[in-house]
Amino acid sequence: METVRVSASREYDVFIGTGFLGDVGEKIKEIKKPCRAVIVSDDTVYGIYGEKVKKSLEKSGFAPFEFVFPHGEESKSLKVFEEILNFCVGKSITRTDLIVALGGGVTGDLAGFAASAYLRGVDFVQIPTTLLAMVDSSVGGKTAVNLSSGKNLCGAFYQPLAVYADCETLETLPGEVFSEGCAEVIKYGMITDGGFLRFLENNSIAENIQKVVKRCVELKRDVVDRDEFEHGERKLLNFGHTIGHAVEKCSNLSVPHGDAVAIGMVIASKGAYRTGLSPEDFSELLLPLLMKNGLPVSCEYTAKQLYAAALSDKKRSLDSISLIVPEKYGRCKIENIPVSKLENFIERGLE
Ligand SMILES: NC(=O)c1ccc[n+]([C@@H]2O[C@H](COP(=O)([O-])OP(=O)(O)OC[C@H]3O[C@@H](n4cnc5c(N)ncnc54)[C@H](O)[C@@H]3O)[C@@H](O)[C@H]2O)c1
Ligand SMILES: [Zn+2]
Repeated sequence: METVRVSASREYDVFIGTGFLGDVGEKIKEIKKPCRAVIVSDDTVYGIYGEKVKKSLEKSGFAPFEFVFPHGEESKSLKVFEEILNFCVGKSITRTDLIVALGGGVTGDLAGFAASAYLRGVDFVQIPTTLLAMVDSSVGGKTAVNLSSGKNLCGAFYQPLAVYADCETLETLPGEVFSEGCAEVIKYGMITDGGFLRFLENNSIAENIQKVVKRCVELKRDVVDRDEFEHGERKLLNFGHTIGHAVEKCSNLSVPHGDAVAIGMVIASKGAYRTGLSPEDFSELLLPLLMKNGLPVSCEYTAKQLYAAALSDKKRSLDSISLIVPEKYGRCKIENIPVSKLENFIERGLE
């Protein structure tokens, strides 16, 4: 088992290993006195891993309850958020109890936001079961639900007590969902680590899973430790996301997050080169790497459609928009461009 220590507003460990889920209760007990624990999980993940986690918690002296919701992005809503809070009330969960997020990014974001709000904050731990959740959403303390007007528009910065990433859980993950996580893995290489990108070019992510998860968690940790509340550097993690979110929005969420990010990174890299913001067309190096990992690299939407969708992005201040663009292979920078120039940027990126 490997450990990565995060030093945000709350210090905590991310444990990365293989095959320790059945002992997760004992691990949690090292940092939290046995108490009532609400396991929040979607129906698919709970069906595979729920009982194992519940039994492990029971064995370690916790009193677990499960809140299971229908899988999918649609559940990351104020409605399900309220259901979790009411469930906690029904089970007499107090401020000293625990919420356990068992699942992918949807579960982590939803359960984390519920933990931040219930009684003004109860402890929570993350047990991520998708590659995306292991390398990205479970670390760094961003929690949220979607509003009808847009993704992640309602949430909080709220750090977990600890994160337990058991890479063995990825074995049951559908191939296309694994690929989505690969988009975020490649994103880390693009923004901060050229050496890691070369490693990804020459090696398979699946065959080096624990090493890859650890490296990504370290890279995210480094950014979050320096800029937890996204005043500056943390924005780099949004590489591919401004346009990616627009793709998700145009598709009515039928293009999943990781696929949209892959497409967004390609458009941003190409657009940046063709509008003079990047010295080279890094999309040429990015494309084969994304394709090798089963990711899409283009979409059917026009610049006009994507521009309209991007305008509702919360990262936009009134007149300008922060775009993340590559400045060399393995390094990105933040460029604030006037909103009026965004449509042209996207159009050039789609060429
Ligand atoms: N908080 C953050 O910093 C952050 C960062 C990136 C993404 N996100 C959010 O994460 C979400 C996407 O996360 P996701 O891709 O993990 O989605 P997800 O949680 O919906 O999981 C994807 C699918 O895989 C299934 N699944 C999960 N683990 C499984 C396993 N081990 N075996 C079999 N099936 C499994 C789920 O039931 C679901 O159907 C988005 O809402 C995105 O906005 C948040
Ligand atoms: Zn993402």
